[in-house]
Amino acid sequence: MEKIVSLCKRRGFIFPGSEIYGGLANSWDYGPLGVLLKNNIKALWWKMFVTEREDMVGLDSSIIYNPKVWQVSGHLENFTDPLVECKVCHGRFRADHEDILKEHEASHKKAKDIWTEAKNFNLMFKTSIGATEDKTNEAFLRPETAQGIFINFKNVLDSTNKRLPFGIAQIGKAFRNEITPGNFVFRTREFEQMEIEYFIKEKDWQEHFKHWEGEMKRWIKAVGVDEKKVKYHDIPSDELAHYSKKTVDIEFEFPFGLDELYGLAYRTDHDLKAHAKASGEKLEYRDPETNEKFVPHVIEPSLGVERTVLAVLASAYTESAARSGDKEAVHETEITLKLPKAIAPIKAAILPLSRKEELTKPAKEIYKELQKNFMCQYDDTASIGKRYRRQDEIGTPYCITFDFDSLEDKKVTVRDRDTMEQERIEISELLNYLINKLN
Ligand code: GAP
Repeated sequence: MEKIVSLCKRRGFIFPGSEIYGGLANSWDYGPLGVLLKNNIKALWWKMFVTEREDMVGLDSSIIYNPKVWQVSGHLENFTDPLVECKVCHGRFRADHEDILKEHEASHKKAKDIWTEAKNFNLMFKTSIGATEDKTNEAFLRPETAQGIFINFKNVLDSTNKRLPFGIAQIGKAFRNEITPGNFVFRTREFEQMEIEYFIKEKDWQEHFKHWEGEMKRWIKAVGVDEKKVKYHDIPSDELAHYSKKTVDIEFEFPFGLDELYGLAYRTDHDLKAHAKASGEKLEYRDPETNEKFVPHVIEPSLGVERTVLAVLASAYTESAARSGDKEAVHETEITLKLPKAIAPIKAAILPLSRKEELTKPAKEIYKELQKNFMCQYDDTASIGKRYRRQDEIGTPYCITFDFDSLEDKKVTVRDRDTMEQERIEISELLNYLINKLN
């Protein structure tokens, strides 16, 4: 894990949050490459699950909802983790994180009976709306994006005339006052979710659950999470969330151990029914063939953006003996991020062989043309080996070298990150060549 954290900082993927003020524990900021990676992951998800499907629509709801939403959804009462406090140092921990508790006990060797009774700690972040801070103005930052979808169900249905089965997808921030955040970006208090509520007839839930299990597998492959490190864990019924009748946790062998990457849940009609009852609105669907009215049931694939980033980085991180030709690094291991092309932050790097203007000028022109189509970098510093190495480290699929021959034959050398093969390509054909390769 240290190697990934260090690469992320050094190359501008992920920085410790508020660092110049000594940091803010477990908060992370996404740098120039991190924001590109994250955006590409979200764009791929949107493309696969909204753009390419006729049974899906998108939504972008606000983060703060009417507090009744959380009362009705059950989060005010049930969205809790068991918390214990150390009687010696007053540190607070999750009662169900046994390894961490044992580690902490060992730090107070002499003390016996160091824990208070476990109590339920609500994970929602409180805030207040407007200038007065009292109970009547209390509000919460959403702990999941899903409720935004349920409370807009009627608006979406009325404005789109969608027929069952159909889904609403949303990407956005969620906040949880986690008792023990940690493991880099794995568990933080502020994170992003990519969620779908897929509305179905109750009798069809098993068939749709199976379909979405397949879709999760398709996603995992496309985004570059190592399938060999993924496990599907059927949650026992006594451990299910308050709203779920069946949940499969999709777990990943992270650098720190096996843990939850995503969740797939059959949420029944719990949420729509509860919101209908409390709001007085009819959150029903009318079957156009039978005229029957009913509250749809829901299958929910729920994905964390940051956990995707971590799983993808861990899957793509590859060390090898010297490969780039960087003469200063011949004795060192080199890092290559074997990211899928669709999510690589930089798609192509344009590298003139020398800093002589006769090469840099036409190379910059190529860069400007390509940059109109996808994210590129221009680099004319250091030796060509060193520049290849820099690009391998950030996962750039293609390096384009403009050399002295290019002036004569109007061709450039394109180097493939993974095969390291080099091809001479006509400059006039370069854009088409790369577009084909990147797609
Ligand atoms: N709407 C259902 C729901 O929110 P969840 O299992 O609590 O279910 C879904 O969360 C996903 O959100 C998780 O599988 C994970 O990817 C991500 N996630 C949850 N809590 C997180 C945290 N504290 N930090 C980062 N990601 C988190």
